Amino acid sequence: EKGGHRHFMAKEIHEQPQTLKDVLELYIEGDRIVPPAEVDFAALSRLTIVACGTAHIAGTVAKYWFERIARLPVECDIASEYRYRDPVIDPAGAVMLISQSGETADTLAAMRHAAGEAASILSVVNVPTSSIARESDVAFPIAAGVEVGVASTKAFMNQLAVLLCLAILAGRQRGTLDAEREAELVSELRRLPGLVSQALAIESRCADLASWLAEASDILFLGRGPMFPLAHEGALKLKEISYIHAEAYASGELKHGPIALVDRSLPVVVFAPSDALFDKTVSNVQEVMAREGQVLLVTDAEGAAAGGQGCRDILTMPDCDPMVTPLLYAVPAQLLAYHTAVHKGTDVDQPRNLAKSVTVE
Ligand code: F6R
Repeated sequence: EKGGHRHFMAKEIHEQPQTLKDVLELYIEGDRIVPPAEVDFAALSRLTIVACGTAHIAGTVAKYWFERIARLPVECDIASEYRYRDPVIDPAGAVMLISQSGETADTLAAMRHAAGEAASILSVVNVPTSSIARESDVAFPIAAGVEVGVASTKAFMNQLAVLLCLAILAGRQRGTLDAEREAELVSELRRLPGLVSQALAIESRCADLASWLAEASDILFLGRGPMFPLAHEGALKLKEISYIHAEAYASGELKHGPIALVDRSLPVVVFAPSDALFDKTVSNVQEVMAREGQVLLVTDAEGAAAGGQGCRDILTMPDCDPMVTPLLYAVPAQLLAYHTAVHKGTDVDQPRNLAKSVTVE
């Protein structure tokens, strides 16, 4: 049942090239995005994304995509906050729920709160028969298959894939993305399952790093732009299954507080592909190293050559278009947490105090 893997989480991490391929087939035709359900982003004034946990992190990545590619204003909220905050619901805006299970109590309640007030209720859900998929106006499948491990991996990956496809579609509909760039992004999406397979090759390095990370009592994750939510994903996965306290910060916020924590006992994991923000992140990395912080830099070959000096370790990822890095960098976020937990001997698939689907408040 675990396909030769020790845990469902490992099986699900390794299934990602295939599950990614499956979902892309649903959303891509030729060199265009053709989604399995109709939606018109051109008519919307804004998009409000509401979700919990890892699904909320996928939503914060989507904010970068929708704003950058489609110039559509996006706010992304935690469902338990949204539902009780008496939010201003824009009648010309859509509310989008993201949920693996489609049954998370707070997300479901948030959806019911917005229903009838927002222009439309969209959902991005794994379980097609779930309450959220059934009650939303338009449900976008993520086709990740059954996810058993409590810590979400392949569902997060496929949520990102669907959200990027929808942002590309929104760009075309809103006239902010030309056919040539759409084709370029689609061809990069088609390359992703192969890139994710390549990224999985860092697994043995992650297993080696686990003995170092497992000894820490706190770990800091840093990133800029779309890598900031990835830092959150790395920290959340690690907390959930290894029980090590971890915190994510936007790299630029470092000097506004958390740098006070930095000393030689603090591992600092930095997600920094060589994109437009790379130099800024490297200067944050240098600030950490100047205080003896131990940096694990997750980057590509160019980034390793340009900014790797003095880091304790480097994980080198394949090159790709900066727009698709969040999907690729999910792999090290998952593998670092997984191997740290395995090293500590925790119950990876059934971490203490957690349930796969949080159907009570
Ligand atoms: C983290 C994780 C949880 C879920 C959250 C929402 O690895 O699995 O944070 O993402 O409970 O669950 P769904 O997506 O089912 O609404």
